[in-house]
Amino acid sequence: MIQLTVNGQKRDVDAPADKPLLWVLREDLNIVGPKFGCGVASCGACTVHVDGKPVRSCSLPAGEAVGTSVVTIEGLGEGRLHAVQQAWIEAQAPQCGYCQPGFIMAAAALLTAKPKPTDQDIDDALNNICRCGTYSAIRRAVHRAAAILGGAT
Ligand code: FES
Ligand code: FES
Repeated sequence: MIQLTVNGQKRDVDAPADKPLLWVLREDLNIVGPKFGCGVASCGACTVHVDGKPVRSCSLPAGEAVGTSVVTIEGLGEGRLHAVQQAWIEAQAPQCGYCQPGFIMAAAALLTAKPKPTDQDIDDALNNICRCGTYSAIRRAVHRAAAILGGAT
């Protein structure tokens, strides 16, 4: 049994400590926003925040998340749309949508660390893979999110 804090709630999970966090979230906790893409920390579809940092949950043993605060896309806005999600809607960033939770989580972490990122900052921090090729829309969405967080309407 391991105890995790996910989206602000303490959750007891009957899973081995070496089970990847992604699969604990999806299979044991029915939190399915984090997606499975590659399973080897390459694509970013499974990105969640662990103590505010973007982490590829397919490659993190759940036991290593004990004692941390895990946030998934379901908890990002704390019951409302987060500014990044609002910007994503305004910029019409997704196509099929599969990769987008990972991009949004990575973008939210980037904007916390760097409130006014350049295109290069975005490309460096959001090295996720989108098979639909939404990269330019995602850059637009991140700039829009930066504007919203900076007080623009
Ligand atoms: S599924 Fe985790 S990085 Fe691809
Ligand atoms: S929107 Fe389809 S994979 Fe990115």
